[in-house]
Amino acid sequence: MYSLMSRFYSEVFPLTLDKVSFAQKSTFWGKAYRILDVGCSTGDLCMALARIGHQMTGIDLDESMIQMAANSAQNYPELTIDYQQMDIMTSSS
Ligand SMILES: C[S@@+](CC[C@H](N)C(=O)[O-])C[C@H]1O[C@@H](n2cnc3c(N)ncnc32)[C@H](O)[C@@H]1O
Repeated sequence: MYSLMSRFYSEVFPLTLDKVSFAQKSTFWGKAYRILDVGCSTGDLCMALARIGHQMTGIDLDESMIQMAANSAQNYPELTIDYQQMDIMTSSS
């Protein structure tokens, strides 16, 4: 289902500041964390958190979502983001 939405996902569900500030409130300002975003979709939250210094890993079941996330991250080689296609229900690694 999400494959059909991947091209429009960020427009239909734009990243909201409250999501970023929630993540920020959960971390000490200025300290870099390794953060796992499960169901990262097109990676908007991963990008936002990587921009403020966190090392991000984004996983999503949907290949096209991960592809879109990886494509947009390519424009920001200075950011630390690792995207992986993975099913959280089955993955044991
Ligand atoms: C509602 S979207 C939420 C996306 C994003 N976290 C957000 O807040 O906008 C759910 C995402 O979870 C992914 N997803 C659903 N089931 C999953 C699973 N078993 N393993 C990994 N990702 C999954 C979908 O592909 C989709 O991109």
